[in-house]
Amino acid sequence: MTLDIRGLSKFYGTFQALNEIDLSVGDSEFVCLLGPSGCGKTTLLRVIAGLESFETGEMMLGGRDLATIGARDRGFGIVFQSYSLFPQMTAAQNIGYGLKLRQRPRAEISARVEELLALVRLEQFADRLPWQLSGGQQQRVAIARALAVQPALLLLDEPLSALDARVRAGLRTEIRQMQKRLGIPTIMVTHDQEEALTMADRVVCMSAGRIEQIGSPAEIYARPATRFVADFVGSSTLLSAARAAGFGVTPPPGQGDSLFALRPEDVLIREDAAAAGRVRSITFLGNVSRVEVDWQGETILAETHRLPGFGEGASVDLSLQPGAGVWVQP
Ligand SMILES: Nc1ncnc2c1ncn2[C@@H]1O[C@H](COP(=O)(O)OP(=O)(O)OP(=O)(O)O)[C@@H](O)[C@H]1O
Ligand SMILES: [Mg+2]
Repeated sequence: MTLDIRGLSKFYGTFQALNEIDLSVGDSEFVCLLGPSGCGKTTLLRVIAGLESFETGEMMLGGRDLATIGARDRGFGIVFQSYSLFPQMTAAQNIGYGLKLRQRPRAEISARVEELLALVRLEQFADRLPWQLSGGQQQRVAIARALAVQPALLLLDEPLSALDARVRAGLRTEIRQMQKRLGIPTIMVTHDQEEALTMADRVVCMSAGRIEQIGSPAEIYARPATRFVADFVGSSTLLSAARAAGFGVTPPPGQGDSLFALRPEDVLIREDAAAAGRVRSITFLGNVSRVEVDWQGETILAETHRLPGFGEGASVDLSLQPGAGVWVQP
């Protein structure tokens, strides 16, 4: 089943939280909504869930108009950022809750709960109360609970953001593998670009209530369409056409106001006492070092393998890898 959203806008009073959203989510696709705080990610997720109204546009699931279907009847699975388990219920009871509401036979519920506990690898924890579980375990219970009713769509709002880095990285892989196996179309909100790039089939990059770009992680990274995307996803140096000319690149015809977005890994740096560049700072990142270079009044980001052989203040020359950089809308 495909979710199709066309021209969707949403206002809170006079404030427009969503502006002409067009988005399709295909069968068994994993889509991430990525963008800075306040850009409308949660609002869009809540509108899709039926927890918020919208003013214009349409939203169809498998050809059915969602506007005519209440939140409860959509049968979507939802997981929120903060732990939202029922505190007085065990893990197993939490997972079985939706089935119990639907008055499924007891034997069916316990079989399904067992299956889901195994799926999120919490077989040993069935009888624990939420406070007796770690944050990561609680979120796994929340995901199992969302999956219990075999949702047509899984909606995740920053489900990993309260967890520490290691647990988060592990759960990313787990959620993605589980989603692939079950084939449930999933929309996950995150403001973490690494999370979006590693998990999503497609990334929806949002800013100020609008979609800036939709693409595969590789497309979003290698060919950002706008200045915002080039800036928000990964690091870029943005050069005017005049500055870019210094590197021998010129904008496409008629796009003289475009900016040239340059990834640090595409900038080659070489120590040269006669060159115009000055190393302003070096940040060691483990496998690479990020080098800020003052270059004709601009700061250009470059990268070297491990630690460079020069220090701050060194004179350096910059050149571009073949095919480096993309022109983006200002
Ligand atoms: N109930 C509301 N009434 C009025 N304005 C709201 C309401 N809920 C959200 N907003 C506003 O709508 C905008 C989008 O909010 P939303 O919660 O969707 O952002 P977000 O992208 O999820 O941000 P975050 O990453 O911080 O969770 C914000 O400017 C917010 O202040
Ligand atoms: Mg949010």
